[in-house]
Parts: sequence; C-alpha cells; structure tokens
Amino acid sequence: MRLQQTHRTERFGAVRIHELQRVVELDSGADHPVERDGHARGSQIVTSAELRAIEKELIVVIPCMNETRRVIEGVLSGIPHDCLIVLVSNSSRQPVDRYDIEVQTLEQFCRVAERPAVTVHQRDPGLAAAVKAAGMPELIDPDGLVRSGKGEAMLIGMAIAAMTGRRYVGYVDADNYVPGAVNEYVKAYAAGLHLAGSPYAMVRISWHSKPKLLDGRLFFSRRGRTSEVTNQFLNRLIGEYSGFGTEMITTGNAGEHAVSLELGKRMRLAGGFAVEPFEYLDLFEQYGGLLDPPHPEAMAASVPVLQIETCNPHFHDNKGEDHVRDMRMQALNVLYHSPVCLPAVRSAILEFMVAQGVLEPGQEPPRERIYPPVGSMALDLMYDALSAEATTFRELARPLVAPPSPLPAAYP
Ligand code: GDD
Repeated sequence: MRLQQTHRTERFGAVRIHELQRVVELDSGADHPVERDGHARGSQIVTSAELRAIEKELIVVIPCMNETRRVIEGVLSGIPHDCLIVLVSNSSRQPVDRYDIEVQTLEQFCRVAERPAVTVHQRDPGLAAAVKAAGMPELIDPDGLVRSGKGEAMLIGMAIAAMTGRRYVGYVDADNYVPGAVNEYVKAYAAGLHLAGSPYAMVRISWHSKPKLLDGRLFFSRRGRTSEVTNQFLNRLIGEYSGFGTEMITTGNAGEHAVSLELGKRMRLAGGFAVEPFEYLDLFEQYGGLLDPPHPEAMAASVPVLQIETCNPHFHDNKGEDHVRDMRMQALNVLYHSPVCLPAVRSAILEFMVAQGVLEPGQEPPRERIYPPVGSMALDLMYDALSAEATTFRELARPLVAPPSPLPAAYP
C-alpha cells in the first residue's frame, strides 16, 4: 500500500495528530522498498510483508445489531485472512433468532476460509457474569445484563482482543455493503500501525466519499453529517488552546479505526455513539499534559494518531435523520463535559444545541457513560466465566474438528 507522505501534525501534549494522508495505491507492487524511494516522491510504501506482519497481530471486532446476513457475509470476506475476527452482537433473538443466523454465517465462513473467529451476544447473562467477575459493574444495566450500545460492544470486543495475546485491535461496522472497502480499511489500519512508530498508536479512517441517491443519480458526498459537526468542535477546542485555528481533525466520528492494545487497554471508552469522539477527548485528558498523567510511560513515548483517507466509497445502511442527530448530540455531550473543554467551546456547543432545538436555553447537555479502561479488568477471570457461563460465547478455532483451547493459546 502506498500512502501520501504528510509532514504537518497538531500537538496536544503527548498526542500527535497527523494530517490526513491519502491512500495513493491500494497495492504498491513488488516488495523492494530499498530500491524504490517512495519518500522522495512524497509517498510512503508499506510492503505487503509489513502489512501481513501487522495483520497477524490484529483483531477485527465487528459490532453488529440486526444487520442483513448477506451484508455481514460481505464484511467477513473483506477482512484479511490473518486477522482474528470477533463478532459482538446485540441482534434480536426473538421472534427470529438473528444471532443464531449470524453465528451460522460466521461458522460457515470460517469453515470455508479455514480461519478462526470468536463470537458473543452482548445481552447474554453469562457475559454479564463474566464482566462482573472481571470487575466492571459499570457496564451492567438494571436488568443485570451488559448495557446495549455500540461503545459497550466495542469495549467487550477490546476485552476479548486483550485476552488473545495479539497486539492490535480494529473495528469494522457490520453494515458495510462493499467488501473491498472493508479490506481497504483493515489494510490502512495495518499500514498506519506500521508507520506510527510508537507502541501507543491509533489509526482513524476518513472515507473518501459516501454515495447517495439524489434525483435518481448517484452523488458521492465528501462529508458525513455527524463528522462535520464533531470535527468542527474538536478543532475549535485545539485552536482555543494553541491560539491558532486548525482543521487537522477530520476523523472525530470515525467508526472505522484501530489502536495498539498498549494504548487501547489504557483508554476509557464512552457508551453508545459517543465512543469515537470520546476517544480523542480521552487522549487529550490522559496525555494532553493538562491533567495529572496516569501513564507517564506513554507520555514519554508520544501518542500518534494517524488519519488515513481511503479510496473506496463508504456504502452502508442509512438509518435515518433522527439517528444522525442522536449521534451528533452524543458527540457534543462528551465534548461539553470533558474537563479539558474550555468555556468558549462550551458556550459554542450550548448555542449550537439550542439552535438545533435539542436543548432549551439554560439547560445543560446530558452526560454520556464513560467506562474504566479494559486494562483495569481481571481478564483471566472474565475468560473463565465466559467459558463456563456464556452460552453464546463461541470460539471457532482452527482446526475446527479439535476441541478449542483457551483463547491465549488458540490464537498465536
Ligand atoms: N453489538 C452492537 N451493539 N452493535 C451495535 C449496536 C449495539 O448496541 N448499535 C449499533 N451497532 C452496530 C451496527 O449494527 C453497525 O454494524 C455498527 O454498530 C454501526 O452502527 P450504525 O447504527 O449503523 O451506525 P452508523 O452507520 O449510522 O454510524 C457509523 O458511522 C459513524 C460515523 O459516520 C458508526 O460507526 C458510528 O459509530 C460512527 O460515528
């Protein structure tokens, strides 16, 4: 893969946000980087061997809630072979057991593609027991089950990823219609994680365009309706500190992103759709140098955030206006309540929310849930409880005929 070379970064303490870099070539040719000076031409080559080395260490978590089987099949087929797939589902189980259909689809895929996978249902009482055993009661709702929400599914995925001994975790939505786009996202994660040059790294995808039908024609929109707003306020926050306006952040809502587990295990995740914007805020809070740093070792190493613009169009299920508005508000809620948010940004958020009619003048935005880091969980106890009590927890390991052994040994 060949990426455009960029030089500009925005600093927020130890956090280094890199300017958006384009995928120039999906496939950059034979692996002779020494003979070819990509740097001199304004590009960086990540060879297929380098991509593969990261993919072997990468877990791809798919949060899934009531998506179509055929679409899920496409997503699975786009994930590079060496990545370990973890499906965290919150799909309905009645009147039709959609989770059962998903597991059958995954099993069939793994059998034919000869690869392992792990799957669990978010609302399995056994998963809740495992989460409690691991010491994260915050994730449990009044019904005694793991809370619904995309951020919550991502947290479970991160915890499972951390049990495997692999080094990276990435996320891919289950409603992506284009397997080639999924493949490109994961390759871009691998390329970014390879280039990041720090054990504490994050890669966020900004898709090139989102196709929409307008008056019977396909229109390739460049911007997402949620991201536009989130990016604007995150950039405003950085600008208020530096005194210089910036448009550096283009991935405030990036659903497609990956992190090294060294960083991921230290991150606090937010619930629902606040999860992606809060990742930026968590980095600013923990590594921005404004509050007491809980991880001085990461502060010393620096925390790069690479933003990569992919070539494939992002073609996914459209869940409607209300859904977009909710996502936008959840992003602003976490930004408003962040201890690093400055008064000028807070006032601008309030003004925006009142203008949008989602807040009355004088009201405060609601708080979103923020969970402790996965690194604080007793993952060995979680694995034992998952194996013993979670009936939906399945390890589809290779070879499939052998009884699966515990996660850490099964997925070298
Ligand atoms: N397990 C689980 N649990 N999965 C969920 C849940 C949940 O409670 N809620 C949603 N999902 C899954 C969906 O099935 C889908 O695969 C993925 O999470 C994203 O949810 P969507 O509802 O399809 O979100 P979207 O496509 O509108 O928004 C996406 O893009 C935004 C940026 O534009 C998401 O990735 C957002 O998180 C992102 O900010």
